[in-house]
Amino acid sequence: MKQEKIYLKDYKSPAFTVDSVNLDFNLNEDFCRVVAKSQVRRVHPGEMRLNGEELKLISIKINGQQLNADQYQITEEELIVPSVPDSFTLEIETELQPQNNTSLEGLYKSNGIFCTQCEAQGFRKITYFFDRPDVMTSYSVTIEADKAKYPVLLSNGDRIKIEDLGNGRHKAFWQDPHKKPCYLFALVAGDLGVIRDTFTTMNGRKVNLEVYAAHGKQERCWHAMDSLKKSMKWDEEVFGLEYDLNDYMIVAIDDFNAGAMENKGLNIFNSRLVLADSNSATDVDFHSIESVVAHEYFHNYTGNRVTLRDWFQLSLKEGLTVFRDQEFSADMTDRGVQRIEDVDALRAGQFAEDAGPNAHPVRPESCMAVDNFFTMTIYEKGSEVIRMMQTIVGRKGFRKGMDEYFKRHDGQAVTTEDFAAAISNPNNKDFTQFRRWYNQSGTPVVSVQENFDAAKGEFHVTLEQSCPPTPGQPTKEPFHIPLMMGLLDKSGKELSLSCDKITVNTDGKNLMELKEQKETFVFKGLKERPVLSVLREFSAPVNLRWEASENDLYFLMQNDTDSFNRREMAQKLGLRLFKKMIQQARAKETLKVDDRFITTMTAILADESMDPAFKAKMLQLPSYAVLAQEEAVLDAEAFYQARTTLRKAIAAANRAQLLNIYRKYHGVEPKSREPKVFGHRALKNQALAYLADLHDPEIMEIVNKQYWDAQNMTDRMTAMSILADSDSAHREKALQNFYEEWKNDSVVINKWFTAQATTTSRKQVLEDVKALTKHPAFNITNPNNVYSLLRAFGANLVRFNDPNTNAYEFYADKILEIDPKNPQVAARLCAAFNFVSKLEPAMKEKALTQIKRMVAVESLSKNSRELLQSALT
Ligand code: PHE
Ligand code: ZN
Repeated sequence: MKQEKIYLKDYKSPAFTVDSVNLDFNLNEDFCRVVAKSQVRRVHPGEMRLNGEELKLISIKINGQQLNADQYQITEEELIVPSVPDSFTLEIETELQPQNNTSLEGLYKSNGIFCTQCEAQGFRKITYFFDRPDVMTSYSVTIEADKAKYPVLLSNGDRIKIEDLGNGRHKAFWQDPHKKPCYLFALVAGDLGVIRDTFTTMNGRKVNLEVYAAHGKQERCWHAMDSLKKSMKWDEEVFGLEYDLNDYMIVAIDDFNAGAMENKGLNIFNSRLVLADSNSATDVDFHSIESVVAHEYFHNYTGNRVTLRDWFQLSLKEGLTVFRDQEFSADMTDRGVQRIEDVDALRAGQFAEDAGPNAHPVRPESCMAVDNFFTMTIYEKGSEVIRMMQTIVGRKGFRKGMDEYFKRHDGQAVTTEDFAAAISNPNNKDFTQFRRWYNQSGTPVVSVQENFDAAKGEFHVTLEQSCPPTPGQPTKEPFHIPLMMGLLDKSGKELSLSCDKITVNTDGKNLMELKEQKETFVFKGLKERPVLSVLREFSAPVNLRWEASENDLYFLMQNDTDSFNRREMAQKLGLRLFKKMIQQARAKETLKVDDRFITTMTAILADESMDPAFKAKMLQLPSYAVLAQEEAVLDAEAFYQARTTLRKAIAAANRAQLLNIYRKYHGVEPKSREPKVFGHRALKNQALAYLADLHDPEIMEIVNKQYWDAQNMTDRMTAMSILADSDSAHREKALQNFYEEWKNDSVVINKWFTAQATTTSRKQVLEDVKALTKHPAFNITNPNNVYSLLRAFGANLVRFNDPNTNAYEFYADKILEIDPKNPQVAARLCAAFNFVSKLEPAMKEKALTQIKRMVAVESLSKNSRELLQSALT
């Protein structure tokens, strides 16, 4: 295996283009033959190098002439033909073993269904080809297979015909009218159930929609279908983008490394992101399905029609498409609550990544394994970068820029610079400095200083930015940071601003655009000291250092006109309190809970005017993931003490209130999927979780009753998770029951694994997880099983880093077991070691021992190696 790095600076435009390719698949139980016939044209002089891995070459022909062994060379990763004509027909026949393909990239089999996954570099496991996104080609495909076993034969584009071959086999013909890079190629062959619907586009074209799943499960696909139609409509309304084929197909597959894949006209999905009904799926599942279906649909323009020049540009499509799906979700549900959720996820995951050993820029400059680019930085921080562009130019300006982007680049393979230029030019903005967001890694820190000069009636806000060093980037240049802001008077009224440095975007939002390392904004004409509200809507992915007074924070929490900041202030207050309590715990002192914080929580609970979904967010305390970033030392036990003590105090002080909330909403419209009802359920289940922290038998009876009487999965899962994390006598029976009920359902049984892997009160969780890896329901070759049990455990900061156990050793064993079979899945587990530098010496030693042990394995994949190695430097 090659272990070298590749670099963006080495990019060269392709030496050959392919005008069209015809792929002919002959699928059998123990082998598959692929004939790829391409029309190739030379662009630059030189030899022809084709990518290919783990392939058996049967023959290679140029213009019909078979090449002899001395006319080409085969290495582990390439097929090289030193001498070819300027324009020719290339015909390559390869043989594959999809039935033995455990990496789940290229062509593989899942539960008897043939399917493909080509992003990022899986196509080279199907045939020798120019496996790079800037080679865009027209595809025609034929698939031949046994008719009884594989009645459904699918590929991209238009269904031309299906022929019965008479010998028990049949053959399907597909043609994709749009050019595409090979990572968007897809094929599915199997015995599948399907649901059908149609969508009429804004220009009156009728599109056939099909969602496929294992036989018998297709009725659980209606929510995905519904989500697809909503996405198609939204993209027309918001961006004027109309679907461009006659058919749109989604296929649900049980064994899938990632969430879903946007193959042109034929999306392949992890079945966990398609299958749902109220018995089997939680409110959160319904929401995720809606957003991922939308995400993959939106890729049709942002990713497929305009694609990537090279993989370093991955955020060009992923950041933009995440931004689009977040905006879609905001329009489908509640904009304020959606923003809170998106920022929570960004902070917990991406900020940690950006502060860890594998921090990288949104547009990276080097890598070992391209697959390792599918990170929260590329996706979620990438989305924040796009959001900042929209904030700077306003929504109208952003739409103008998007129109310009498609006008300039439809059908092309482009770069993040091209995108930034398309947005900035028509808006007459200069994004030269802004582009540093693409090149510099790390989360910038913005410190805020306020000063009120009563005599002059001036309020001074001084902002100073810095960015911590990250791997390969010891120092940084200043960023262009848009900070949305406002000033409030004593009564909570928004003041009009008199400051010549403020920009007002076309949406009427006030921005402090920080460009220098340090800048002061002077607000004039103020009779009294205003209260500053800054970083509204989380307008930039930064960490604020702002020593605002407690009074101001409480004031903003109650009065800010920006709902994001109201909740943000609650988090800030929670964090300040946690910091003290963690210190007390580390010093073995008694933990002191702050009365004012409790009283405020009581007031929030009592506030009838507050939207329940938002209230649920207000009541949430900062997560362990956030604590781990804020604290210099990851002291799992101290974190746990602080968090449970505070939760208990809130519950004890508000027992009656919490029970009232619970009773008010429990059992009301249990089958409804209205966003409003989701909010009610979120709030009442949160009330129940707080109450459960009291370890009061009466409460545990309520939890148990909710488990057994539940009429939807949200209620059932909430109750099961609470029981799983308790020593209640009801625990075993509920877990047993859940298993019996869902043991044959691969999607649902994962919830059972996660509930047990994420317990924090239960000290023996490592033993539980070990036992579960031996459970008949656990299959280590299934990515969902691995993620829901092992990755969930690795993200359980309290128990994964429990000093009384050695979870690291067990975890390393599992990584080493998975890595040879499926490097992508193994690599996704490695992030559990990102916090190593924050561990106390004894724990750090234990972790480093395991990392070194893994890295010492010579056959370790480059995927895992790249991520682990950095933790050692
Ligand atoms: N491109 C997919 C997405 O929409 C993610 C993916 C990456 C899927 C790699 C499979 C393999 O985000
Ligand atoms: Zn995507």
